[in-house]
Amino acid sequence: MATFPDIHGKTLFFAFILTLLILMCFGPSSVEAQGGQLPRDEEEALEEVAEQVGKKDWNFSLNPCDGNSNWSTPNRKEMPLYNNTLTCNCSYPNGQCHVVQILLKGQDLAGVLPPALAKLPYLKIIDFTRNYLSGNIPREWASLQLEYMSLTVNRLSGLIPSFLGNITTLRYMSMESNMFSGTVPPQLGQLVNLENLILNTNNLTGELPPALANLTKLTEFRISSNNFTGKIPNFIHSWKQLQKLEIQASGLEGPIPSSISVLKNLTELRISDLLGEGSNFPPLGNMKGLKKLMLRGCNISGSIPKYLAEMTELQILDLSFNKLEGIVPNLEGLTQIEFMYLTSNLLTGSIPDWIESRNNRYQTDISYNSFSKRSMPSSCRETLNLFRSFSERGKLEFDECLNSFPCLKDQYSLHINCGGGRTIIGDIVYEADEDLAGPSKFVPTRDNWGFSSTGDFWDRDRTTKNYIAQNVSMLGMNDSELYTRARLSPLSFTYYGRCLADGNYTVKLHFAEIVIRDNKSFHSLGRRIFDVYIQEKLELQDFNIVQAAQGVDKVVVREFKAVVRNKTLEIRFHWAGKGTTAAPEGGTYGPLISAISVKADFEPPSDGKKKILIVVRAVALVLFLILGILWWKVCFGGRISREQELRGLDLQTGLFTLRQIKAATNSFDVANKIGEGGFGSVYKGTLLDGTIIAVKQLSTKSKQGNREFVNEIGMISALQHPNLVRLYGCCVEGNQLILVYEYMENNSLARALFGQVEHRLNLDWSTRQRICVGIARGLAFLHEGSTLKIVHRDIKANNILLDKNLNPKISDFGLAKLDEEDNTHISTKVAGTIGYMAPEYALWGYLTYKADVYSFGVVALELVAGKNNMKYRPNDDYVCLLDWAFVLQQKGNLMELVDPKLGTEFKKDEAIRMIKVALLCTNPSPALRPTMSAVVSMLKGQTVIQEYPLNPSIYGDEFGFEALRGL
Ligand SMILES: *[C@@H]1O[C@H](CO)[C@@H](O)[C@H](O)[C@H]1NC(C)=O
Ligand SMILES: *[C@@H]1O[C@H](CO)[C@@H](O)[C@H](O)[C@H]1NC(C)=O
Ligand SMILES: *[C@@H]1O[C@H](CO)[C@@H](O)[C@H](O)[C@H]1NC(C)=O
Ligand SMILES: *[C@@H]1O[C@H](CO)[C@@H](O)[C@H](O)[C@H]1NC(C)=O
Repeated sequence: MATFPDIHGKTLFFAFILTLLILMCFGPSSVEAQGGQLPRDEEEALEEVAEQVGKKDWNFSLNPCDGNSNWSTPNRKEMPLYNNTLTCNCSYPNGQCHVVQILLKGQDLAGVLPPALAKLPYLKIIDFTRNYLSGNIPREWASLQLEYMSLTVNRLSGLIPSFLGNITTLRYMSMESNMFSGTVPPQLGQLVNLENLILNTNNLTGELPPALANLTKLTEFRISSNNFTGKIPNFIHSWKQLQKLEIQASGLEGPIPSSISVLKNLTELRISDLLGEGSNFPPLGNMKGLKKLMLRGCNISGSIPKYLAEMTELQILDLSFNKLEGIVPNLEGLTQIEFMYLTSNLLTGSIPDWIESRNNRYQTDISYNSFSKRSMPSSCRETLNLFRSFSERGKLEFDECLNSFPCLKDQYSLHINCGGGRTIIGDIVYEADEDLAGPSKFVPTRDNWGFSSTGDFWDRDRTTKNYIAQNVSMLGMNDSELYTRARLSPLSFTYYGRCLADGNYTVKLHFAEIVIRDNKSFHSLGRRIFDVYIQEKLELQDFNIVQAAQGVDKVVVREFKAVVRNKTLEIRFHWAGKGTTAAPEGGTYGPLISAISVKADFEPPSDGKKKILIVVRAVALVLFLILGILWWKVCFGGRISREQELRGLDLQTGLFTLRQIKAATNSFDVANKIGEGGFGSVYKGTLLDGTIIAVKQLSTKSKQGNREFVNEIGMISALQHPNLVRLYGCCVEGNQLILVYEYMENNSLARALFGQVEHRLNLDWSTRQRICVGIARGLAFLHEGSTLKIVHRDIKANNILLDKNLNPKISDFGLAKLDEEDNTHISTKVAGTIGYMAPEYALWGYLTYKADVYSFGVVALELVAGKNNMKYRPNDDYVCLLDWAFVLQQKGNLMELVDPKLGTEFKKDEAIRMIKVALLCTNPSPALRPTMSAVVSMLKGQTVIQEYPLNPSIYGDEFGFEALRGL
């Protein structure tokens, strides 16, 4: 037992020696391996800094310059806003280190900006973004040699100190999203090395000091959301290096100075919500490298300049909320443009085809304009917002392509749980509103209401953008279902109620702030500010939910009176550039609406009346059923097989009975016969309700069964376009296959141009031009725009019908397909007309869309020449009109083609275009013929027309006229 302590003592002794050895050998050298130590005074300074800024987790028992210590924490993926890094430079003599960078981002530090930083003389970079720091910038910092200073998203207040002008090493300075007030000190003009100056979202006032003109190295300048006064200064032209300029809701007045034109290096220009007088479009023609262009709400009038087409890098174009007028220039070549906003202007003319024909990748918003109603596309795209795009706004219906239904009965109330699901509160049903919306989308949610969503979140990761906000903490209020999700908009969002009985209403808007917080954290530093318009009247300006509700997650309901006229009500939420956009995260801004209740101030028609109405309706229903049964018996009685055949058909199409058709046409009276088409005779008829129809008796029996035939007809009749003859339906009885079309008052183009003399029409030039473009558009729709994608196969002047206003409509589309067995390109049965048929189709049965293009070219030529291709021969040397045209082309004498009946009353440029298009379309080689959508834009003069010199050798042999002569 006695030796035990001894042994113990010896063990202790050896352990001590060993530790000492380890410390001596490895301890100091490990510090050296990390590059050395900070001077004592810098360590002390850091202790002070920690104290002042409120940083509690710096561990001063560890070497700050050891990158592995908790002085720097690796970024956690789930906290992208967070960065905790202290960096030393240890390359000084004797292993001396100095602190050069302090990043304390997203840490909710609640102290002040630390004056002790001044004791770190080697410091170059500080970043205190997203904390809860208060006070002002300490005077001590004036002696620092800072290059980078970010104070973004804090609570700093007071004047911007003038001594900042002493830190002439500064290259980057951001004070975004604080509460700085007063004017910008002219001393900042001394920061001649400054490249980035970001003053967004403060309470800065006064004019911008002219001394800023000396910041000639500036590449980025942002002053959005402030209360500046005066005009946008002229001296911005001295910032020749400028790449990014942002002036949204700054308080400054327009117009945008024309000196902006010298800023050739701009890639991003954002100006919005300018006060003061308007102007024309500023001169931006030099800025060929612009990627993002926003001139929103700048009171700009006049037209959109054509030179935008040269800004080939453009990705975002926002010219919304101005007074731009005239037509939209052709920006088809700007293939990078994913977002285009022309919303709320006075644009006129047709909606350009290139806009119509873009695919879903392009978000295009042309809502609220005065485009011609005639140019309304016949089919709609999710990413093309056409809400109220057209000039005839009086009627305020959902437009045809916006799925309008007639209002069946008047409504007296409307309740929507914006952004949320269907919710019942008491006896009120708040309807669901869960469509994901988007940057340019009109959503007809119900027959009686829908919404239009415009705008995308700039500065936010595209993948996370969201137009519905979700609560971030448990909500304790009553009816919390209304508030857990809310509609969010980065620019403008309109709820549109229709079918409301006219009269006075009360509109209640339910708000609650569920995103911004009110804790002692940067999450509470957001200020959401927006406007609300009801029936286009500004009802709430600079509305701030948190202020109005006195806190977050609290409800505030605002009540308004509104008058419903024309049965419609519009409630629009608009972000006018004010408030924060980066707190708590980038892209947190824009109106937020939780629920809407609309209720009539008057009694709906009394119950007594209602009962009578119900009785009347019930009687009507019974009568209707009886009639229906009778009709069914008459039509299908005894014909079980057909009845079965047709049962369950999706009757998109009208099914007519033979009896109806006979009544309409007076039993196919010859007096009613109006034509003989490729598929059978055509009769004019009048239905019982007075509708005039054209009835086509198909002569060939379809190879398909009746059911397939009706299905096919259903699909064809679903194809609707202003330049296609509308197919109302069909009749399938016995051996009869009958098609019922809309009646076209002016018969066919063939008859108008070269029919019997008494039938001919005097088509003036503008009508011919319109007809030509119309045919092209109809064909483009058949080829490219419709769901079916049809090759017509038999385009000719006889198949172009003219309505009472001489608008052209293509007839007989889809019919050739009816007696086709398979879908190969090689047609077993050629179904065209000599004189119009493309050579490859006529000779080899090789059929593609380009065969129609060829036939179209022939029709276009006939239209301009007023002559029938087959029948016209100036002399025996020529086969036909087209042949003559090719010769005239060789001779450079194209104008000789123009119909002499026009005299001098035609537009030469249009005529030349039409001829050139016709010749291009009739190129013997299908590959060289344009697509029909290209034809449309060529005819309108929006695209250059290719000209191919004809190579006679192509002509001589297998293709072309030699062959045709033999036909
Ligand atoms: C913090 O920011 C610095 C400088 O931008 C960067 O190099 C570093 O990777 C970031 N650190 C973390 C942990 O994300
Ligand atoms: C800034 O520099 C000026 C002149 O160089 C000097 O007079 C002034 O004291 C400096 N300000 C501070 C706060 O250091
Ligand atoms: C902004 O400054 C003005 C006076 O300059 C003051 O009246 C207003 O309250 C300030 N706004 C905020 C949000 O601090
Ligand atoms: C720009 O700097 C020069 C020289 O430093 C100075 O003379 C001039 O006054 C400054 N310009 C303005 C507008 O302050």
